[in-house]
Amino acid sequence: MTRKRDEFEVNNKTTNSVFSEVMDARISRRSLFKMGGLGLTAGIASLFPSMPFASEQTAKAVDAAKSGSLSFRSVPYSSLDTVIVPEGYKAVAFYKWGDPVGIVGNSPEFKKDASNSADEQAAQAGMNHDGMAFFPLGEGDERSRRGLLAMNHEYVDNGLLFTDGDQNWSADKVLKSQNAMGISVIEVAKNSNGDWDVVRPSKYARRITPHTEMSVSGPAKGHALFKTAADPTGSKVLGTMQNCANGETPWGTYLTCEENWADIFVKEGEQTDLEKRYGIAGSDESYRWVEFDDRFNINKNPNEVNRFGWVVEIDPEDPTSTPIKHTALGRFKHEGAMLVVAPDQRVVVYMGDDQRFEYIYKFVSNGKFDPAKGKENSDLLTDGTLYVARFDDNGQGVWLPLLFGQNGLTAENGFNNQGDIVINARGAADVVGGTKMDRPEWVAADPKNPGHIYCTLTNNKNRGKAGYPAVDAANPREDNLFGHIIHWHEKNSDATSNDFDWDILALAGSDQTDNPNHKAQTQGDAFGSPDGLVFDNNGILWVQTDVSSSTLNQKAYQGMGNNQMLAVDPADGYFKRF
Ligand code: FEO
Repeated sequence: MTRKRDEFEVNNKTTNSVFSEVMDARISRRSLFKMGGLGLTAGIASLFPSMPFASEQTAKAVDAAKSGSLSFRSVPYSSLDTVIVPEGYKAVAFYKWGDPVGIVGNSPEFKKDASNSADEQAAQAGMNHDGMAFFPLGEGDERSRRGLLAMNHEYVDNGLLFTDGDQNWSADKVLKSQNAMGISVIEVAKNSNGDWDVVRPSKYARRITPHTEMSVSGPAKGHALFKTAADPTGSKVLGTMQNCANGETPWGTYLTCEENWADIFVKEGEQTDLEKRYGIAGSDESYRWVEFDDRFNINKNPNEVNRFGWVVEIDPEDPTSTPIKHTALGRFKHEGAMLVVAPDQRVVVYMGDDQRFEYIYKFVSNGKFDPAKGKENSDLLTDGTLYVARFDDNGQGVWLPLLFGQNGLTAENGFNNQGDIVINARGAADVVGGTKMDRPEWVAADPKNPGHIYCTLTNNKNRGKAGYPAVDAANPREDNLFGHIIHWHEKNSDATSNDFDWDILALAGSDQTDNPNHKAQTQGDAFGSPDGLVFDNNGILWVQTDVSSSTLNQKAYQGMGNNQMLAVDPADGYFKRF
């Protein structure tokens, strides 16, 4: 979500998968029928010269598109800073920053003057909720009325967090800031009005912060780059932070993903190639943890930074459990972790690296999911193959394995073992030739159509600019202000396949711009900067936008409204604003 820095690409000057010519955008056929009235614009038609546009087909498609297959009435544009939902629905806030989590015997009330202490903050909701997942409790119908919510608290806002904001900065303020990030696990239940309440106290209630002890699995465990003075074994990490999107497993655990962790660390002077590749800065005026916590000072603690940038597994049902950083899934600025079970019962985790010109990855386990093993299936995430996606201009794609000794991942290129590869997954993806994408955000898997996967590419203002990668077929617009949603179909509908076909579900944009790169090429309600993406059990894809305030102020966004949630049935490609 919103970040302190508007710097979304770093030191990725390798030239793989950058096409010098403008390829035709491979937009999916379901997204073609829009453009006010019956026709396609000449510009769009010329982009897709091979598409059959029989007028009868077009008319039928447009009829269907008038409302799409979803029955709710779209919410009109609004720039109001409030939550608006369609007729017949209501939105109620029930767990706000500072609300007590509900820990037994430790439930400090929120103080409106922001004077809660650091310790109190550690038993209250963190700030800026992001990804979350619901884990039902009980039996039968109860499971839709009661459960656990695990949720991320992505970042902090010092102006709100402290009575006196950034003034009088201190170790205590750093601790409170740290305690306002991380994860909440809360118990929730539906009340007699049909609204949800937090259950307090609850034996499940838990806060996880940048100080919570975590274990490590996979190739980076015990690696030389993982060892610190405080942890000479390289197997015990304190905490998680900048948790953005998420995932969940079929064995009932929560996956939280560390995104903008690099913003917290500071390295003065000369940086290593690894530090440069991950965008470490020479100073930090926003979070300011480094001023009172040497853990985040790379000059003093060179390896602590390598212990962030991972997918972390949490058992929400056991507040005494130790979260696990699964390093086999690679280190980058993780957005989500979409886990699917393949036909042969191996698990596959799809992941985006949210920075300009970064990659889409998937992890395929070596072992197979066995429901009888319950939470021991967690071991599946410790051993497997990490791949990066290459989207070819012919509409096909390949998953390229990031395995030591293969495809140039050798000592010659700086990789001496698999630990080196997962810690520098970005560098490994550069070597094997992944496709540089327009900020990969969430990935969603269609539950009704196995092997059909979608990813939001939120925007990339630098695409095609001098000195930056050119457009390619999968990222087809220069100055991609509004972003797009890409779809791929794994060969044989099998998530473990090495090959896939792909197309573009939607090029988001405005109807009110003359810039062809900013035009909406979607059906239904216009939107920009798609980010959150998840299917419901009915096969409806929900799309949440994250337009930064600086972007909202741009002229091209005028009339586009505020951030929003949309729903689309991929079968008709018609977006409706919820
Ligand atoms: Fe935290 Fe990429 O949004």
